[in-house]
Amino acid sequence: QRPSCRLLCCPGTVAEDLQREEPLSGSAETGSEDKTSKKRFFEVQKERREQAQRTVLIHCPNKISEKKFLKYLSHHGPINNHFFYESFGLYAVVEFCQKESISSLQNGTRTPSMGMEAAIPFRSRFFNLKLKNPSNQTSEKSCVQSSDQLPPSSKKLFELLYYAESVDDQVNTLLKEFELTEENTRLRYLTCSLIEDIAAAYFPDCIVRPFGSSVNTFGKLGCDLDMFLDLDEIGKLGTHKSSGNFLMEFQVKNVPSERVATQKILSVIGECLDHFGPGCVGVQKILNARCPLVRFSHQPSGFQCDLTTNNRIALKSSELLYIYGALDSRVRALVFSIRCWARAHSLTSSIPGAWITNFSLTMMVIFFLQRRSPPILPTLDLLKTLADAEDKCIIEGNNCTFIRDLNRIKPSGNTETLELLLKEFFEYFGNFTFNKNSINIRQGREQNKPDSSPLHIQNPFETSLNISKNVSQSQLQKFVELARESAWILQREDQDRPSSSSNQPWGLAALLLPSIAKSKSPSKNKKEKLSSERIKNLLESIKSNRTENPTDTNGK
Ligand code: GTP
Ligand code: MG
Repeated sequence: QRPSCRLLCCPGTVAEDLQREEPLSGSAETGSEDKTSKKRFFEVQKERREQAQRTVLIHCPNKISEKKFLKYLSHHGPINNHFFYESFGLYAVVEFCQKESISSLQNGTRTPSMGMEAAIPFRSRFFNLKLKNPSNQTSEKSCVQSSDQLPPSSKKLFELLYYAESVDDQVNTLLKEFELTEENTRLRYLTCSLIEDIAAAYFPDCIVRPFGSSVNTFGKLGCDLDMFLDLDEIGKLGTHKSSGNFLMEFQVKNVPSERVATQKILSVIGECLDHFGPGCVGVQKILNARCPLVRFSHQPSGFQCDLTTNNRIALKSSELLYIYGALDSRVRALVFSIRCWARAHSLTSSIPGAWITNFSLTMMVIFFLQRRSPPILPTLDLLKTLADAEDKCIIEGNNCTFIRDLNRIKPSGNTETLELLLKEFFEYFGNFTFNKNSINIRQGREQNKPDSSPLHIQNPFETSLNISKNVSQSQLQKFVELARESAWILQREDQDRPSSSSNQPWGLAALLLPSIAKSKSPSKNKKEKLSSERIKNLLESIKSNRTENPTDTNGK
């Protein structure tokens, strides 16, 4: 179980002035829509990485005077930003203005003497601060305000949703409560940067990049941290140095395949993390998976980490999702609701298996939004058409080209509300012909399924692959049934919204209750029986309408 990480901010201190800074990624990571130009994915990554390289993580004594702490650290150089959080103790994330301050701090730091145990010396950026005279500091009370780094409790969420003004308000509230905070994002990049220091012991100039939901704008507080060990930069460093008729190459060790190379690299990195990675615990090498990885817990940050290498397409998928997430504010709002809905009904799980994944759910939402009239999101083929020469990207023979400057993509003219979209999403997938059709965000229309897997969602870049190949028929069936019931609940509420005095969860809150799937239990009462039959009739009438109007592809 993960510790509950609490963020501690201290109003009215030196910290406040130091902390004021514009978030790096503008609207893309905050969810607010503004007219300022939106940063490209790699610009955000580059800036965050650079910021993380100037940052240190310090385990602090529980009672510490913030003012004295900052004064002490600023002997090594000016501090740009800092925050505290709790996770098995008190931690501080301190960002210096200059990278040089880090070596100054490291030079003034000693390797601990461990008594009975022995320490493996490693000059990391993760420190332990001790007080020479504890009584000196405890006399000063630090006034700290705390905010959780994990999502709100169900109780708090239901309360917030109950008092929201509309379903649209509920969906936006859920987004605000679950999205990654600025501090959580900083901690994610810092963790990658700390792991990079360890990997650099073997591969100097390697880069450890976050990918997946930590960076694609769809990350929920508490989600795992996917990391990509990028060794390509090492090869690129010397490319311009050849002159005349000579070409110099490194002597290297050859192995039979890319896969074997990946396994060997991850194997030694796994060993490094296990043997001298401060704070890295529970290291597992999962090298025989389709995509080999090293899984571990980074204890001080509380993140469950998955480290892969040779996985560039996944990084490109993260960039594509980042673009889709930033194009229209409804996209993230809807994806967060659907992800929470799926989690509430155990359609998704943190354990790998026949379940649908969050990645697949996101693809389904994107596809659905491409099918609206007018479309809310462009197809991947359209994004490819808009690309210029610099956007061209081929990875292992797969064309991964799409426009990367989101300011050049025309916003949608569609003005549908989140309430309507949520309802229509459930109706659309409650009636989707999964047995015949495949979901395809590249073309933005259904395709005939190329194989017999129950759920087929085309991998957008490796188009012969199905990203939901693991999903079983029974899990798909469960998804369909829940989607139908959820469509019905929203439909019914439209006509018959519970009165404000009824105390009943309504709208999105009603969809998140585990009870909605229970109408099949033998103990169901007459009222539930009735609604179940009415759902069937309603959905059948929707279906027959659709066969009568085959040109209506929007599921309305
Ligand atoms: P959560 O961790 O559940 O919040 O979402 P996530 O998007 O980070 O998913 P996950 O950690 O499972 O995977 C990380 C990334 O790997 C995803 O964002 C995708 O880019 C990629 N990925 C995951 N599953 C698949 C898959 O089945 N096929 C392909 N091609 N890529 C995948
Ligand atoms: Mg992930």
